[in-house]
Amino acid sequence: MAGGAWRSMLSVLMGTVKSKAPWTRNFTQGVQTVTLIPGDGIGPEISTAVMKIFEAAKAPIQWEERSVTAIKGPSGRWMIPPEAKESMDKSKIGLKGPLKTPIAAGHPSMNLLLRKTFDLYANVRPCASIEGYKTPYDDVNLVTIRENTEGEYSGIEHVIVNGVVQSIKLITEKASKRIAEYAFEYARNNQRISVTAVHKANIMRMSDGLFLRKCREVAENYKDIKFTEMYLDTVCLNMVQDPTQFDVLVMPNLYGDILSDLCAGLIGGLGVTPSGNIGANGVAIFESVHGTAPDIAGKDLANPTALLLSAVMMLRHMGLHGYAKKIEMACFDTIRDKKVLTKDLGGNSKCSEFTNEICRRVQDMD
Ligand SMILES: NC(=O)c1ccc[n+]([C@@H]2O[C@H](COP(=O)([O-])OP(=O)(O)OC[C@H]3O[C@@H](n4cnc5c(N)ncnc54)[C@H](O)[C@@H]3O)[C@@H](O)[C@H]2O)c1
Repeated sequence: MAGGAWRSMLSVLMGTVKSKAPWTRNFTQGVQTVTLIPGDGIGPEISTAVMKIFEAAKAPIQWEERSVTAIKGPSGRWMIPPEAKESMDKSKIGLKGPLKTPIAAGHPSMNLLLRKTFDLYANVRPCASIEGYKTPYDDVNLVTIRENTEGEYSGIEHVIVNGVVQSIKLITEKASKRIAEYAFEYARNNQRISVTAVHKANIMRMSDGLFLRKCREVAENYKDIKFTEMYLDTVCLNMVQDPTQFDVLVMPNLYGDILSDLCAGLIGGLGVTPSGNIGANGVAIFESVHGTAPDIAGKDLANPTALLLSAVMMLRHMGLHGYAKKIEMACFDTIRDKKVLTKDLGGNSKCSEFTNEICRRVQDMD
């Protein structure tokens, strides 16, 4: 496929088409404030890279940097620091690097806490093959939409008797309808053709049955979008055989967690996959989904692509389409040319060199 066609396909995929969805907020003209959570490990390095590229592109964004660590509130409940919460409440939009989740730290995962705090109910991950970054698949172009707040991750677990534990999968009508509506609206606003509900209602008849029923009901209001339903195991099989048959996929929490990583693997991994978490009241946090990479932290070796493409998604969410396109093109052109690439992308360049190359290309577009 020619470069231009690729770029236009990717632009549609990543949401170039202006969304009129009720959960998007109208961002006014002028400089917008975004809460930046650099995170841990390589987080600060890749955040600096994104800020530098945004500056080169003259994107009208002002960053309000906040750190996020778990603190105990007066009631004894774990919460994020008030400065971070206040900043997000005000800006309504965040960009987040990876956060370390210490095992046995005694507090819940910070990512989970952020999701709960801002009711970030939809995790959206566009997966599109990147020209010049070869994987066994050339034409992947799909979006996974994962219900982010309940299902298998509702955190309700208990011991029944010694040696027997129970974990509750919570599925509600409200959350299922909300995520189904989000998926269909996303499909419509981004000119996608179909939505596939991924489920195991043959086994979990009541819980996945309810999820599926809500998807079917919502589909009735979107006759312009083709609706299909498929068992999770069939999706996995078909996905690795021929991912081109999929477009938008919507699913409960656990299935989405696993399937979205599988899809990221088809296009080259978490280092190149963007992600957005859409919440209630117009709040949204865009994030790289890879971890803190402690093995390379502080060595100028990190690949900032995933955070940068997440920031591009964010710009589109804010209606800043021109800046999004410019930055995205500079990033994809750099990867396609293969001259300045970080190690994980098959090159020998440092994070700072890769960043400078994108900045140079962005500036050349002016
Ligand atoms: N979204 C998140 O905040 C998130 C996601 C996953 C893991 N984590 C946390 O990150 C920590 C480390 O987790 P892990 O080691 O399992 O996974 P990881 O993603 O940090 O690392 C896995 C491998 O991928 C490489 N890698 C990851 N991102 C890279 C990038 N941008 N550029 C180049 N190489 C990259 C690392 O060097 C490492 O070799 C843990 O504390 C974990 O809880 C956070």
